[in-house]
Amino acid sequence: MRSIFLLFLISGLFRYSLAQEGFCSVPSESKSEKHLYWKIYDSTLYPLNLQNLPGFTRSVYKRDHALISPESHVYGPLPDWINTLGAYLISPEMGSHFIMYLAKLKENSKSGLPLHDVERFIFVLHGAVTVTNAHGVSHALKVDSYAYFPPNFEYSIESDAPAIIVVFERRYAQLPNHVPEPLVNSTDKQPLLETPGEIFELRKLLPTSLAYDFNIHIMDFQPGEFLNVKEVHYNQHGLLLLEGQGIYRLGDSWYPVQAGDAIWMAPFVPQWYGALGKTRSRYLLYKDVNRSPL
Ligand SMILES: *[C@@H]1O[C@H](CO)[C@@H](O)[C@H](O)[C@H]1NC(C)=O
Repeated sequence: MRSIFLLFLISGLFRYSLAQEGFCSVPSESKSEKHLYWKIYDSTLYPLNLQNLPGFTRSVYKRDHALISPESHVYGPLPDWINTLGAYLISPEMGSHFIMYLAKLKENSKSGLPLHDVERFIFVLHGAVTVTNAHGVSHALKVDSYAYFPPNFEYSIESDAPAIIVVFERRYAQLPNHVPEPLVNSTDKQPLLETPGEIFELRKLLPTSLAYDFNIHIMDFQPGEFLNVKEVHYNQHGLLLLEGQGIYRLGDSWYPVQAGDAIWMAPFVPQWYGALGKTRSRYLLYKDVNRSPL
């Protein structure tokens, strides 16, 4: 009698653990109980199936915008970097005046310098990196920390363990009597800024002073929140969705997007975001500022 009870208990636990593994909380059937054509009616598996569908990608490349989803990333060596692989997601071939790329630093990795007159911004997505200037002053950067390096500034980015960063570079647009300073900081130390008429939370990672010709915004939306202004403007954007899901409108197209997606927005492309899903949306956004478009 006792052993039957034990068997009952064990089989119950087994079923419970199966249900926990499943995509939703409805108890799923074990494999042996599955019928031959179960994929037709088990709709909870659709998102997973889609990822592995041969030839399927959500990535899009058009004249005035692009969506690059993670299954399209192609990594290769970065010029002058050691033990690092990079995937360029936005580059002037698309029409942008900046580049945006992911850099995967492996053990004992080290950055190379950008081209002459090119400034660089880095943001840590995974692991940690150490940035060191020519005087040997070092800062450790963890996830959500970032650094800005003015053009022709000497420094290195190093890591002794795997780390991933997103990098923006552009040719610096000078203004007489304004000089950008190198800086290191973190997202959580930046104050929330006023966003008149809008509901999302905004932080700017760089100073708004004239010395800087671009800024990086961190924008947070709760599920259901959306942009009020359907923006059309001269500035260009590189966006990396860090958390959450939603719908991005670009021109006449409406794209379901999720964390990991990157977006290029050319000047004047109509743009709008609505956050959906069950958790906060957070994205990181490059925007050129403080310079006349002429
Ligand atoms: C980081 O940013 C905050 C807010 O902008 C600023 O008060 C602080 O001085 C910065 N820290 C460093 C090390 O620059």
